[in-house]
Amino acid sequence: MILLDGKKISDEILSEIANEVRILKHDQKKIPHLAAVLVGNDGASETYVASKVRNCEKVGFKSTLIRLEDTISENELLKVINSLNDNTDIDGFIVQLPLPKHINENKITQAIAPNKDVDGFHPTNVGLLALGNPVFISATPNGVMEILRRYNIDTEGKNCVILGRSNIVGSPMAILMSKNTNPGNATVTVCHSKTQNLKSYTTQADILIIAIGKPEFITSDMVKSGAVVIDVGIHRIPDSSKKSGFRLVGDVKFDEVAPKASYITPVPGGVGLMTICSLLQNTLKAAKMNS
Ligand code: GUN
Repeated sequence: MILLDGKKISDEILSEIANEVRILKHDQKKIPHLAAVLVGNDGASETYVASKVRNCEKVGFKSTLIRLEDTISENELLKVINSLNDNTDIDGFIVQLPLPKHINENKITQAIAPNKDVDGFHPTNVGLLALGNPVFISATPNGVMEILRRYNIDTEGKNCVILGRSNIVGSPMAILMSKNTNPGNATVTVCHSKTQNLKSYTTQADILIIAIGKPEFITSDMVKSGAVVIDVGIHRIPDSSKKSGFRLVGDVKFDEVAPKASYITPVPGGVGLMTICSLLQNTLKAAKMNS
């Protein structure tokens, strides 16, 4: 079994981006600037956004964090988005999800200018991805593709089973894995909450990508021997033996699945780190496009 080391790859990518920023600085070009909008104070969202901002600093980007009360109205949030769309110093921005229930996430996503939508969530960017002409690929699926690419994992003609059909992970992942690209060219099956006899699909998977948001859901009996296992889940499980009071687990029962897999991503240290790299790659691309 080979561990797909997200830390190692993300460090490589961060240093590639940092090099590009050094060149931009040397050439007196504009430094990429990412803004993040955080509404309310959800613990997990706070952690993710803090990490995004920290990594911007690491590679030499400018970053702006906009914190808003969870009582903000949809209209007020739309005004903030419009001002970010109009701000020529900001190359790309994200609105961290989930949003409070009184705000329509689709409406917010659609208000972001497609050329600043570094999350790749806007319908224009989703459409371009579906047509095989992507500009900004949503960060997590792009991170998974980067892992497969950098470990030279052969995906052509393989059975790829994806668990989950969300707009941000499962659906774009299915598009990317079925395209005539490398990685890609896989035969893709998407399973979801209404799938019957899930195990009959997962045990056929040469490549199993799990994004269903259920802690340690995938057990060894659900996995084919020699499969490539990509775990997109991340959950905090109470653990009194830890100083923090919790430990992180994925959607896969790692200890029992790992010995059966040919390659597997750990949690933490797998896909999560790649997501941030993809966001920074998209921001660099936005800055180059906008200059
Ligand atoms: N919430 C969970 N993942 C993401 C992400 O990739 N982008 C945004 N904006 N919100 C998220």
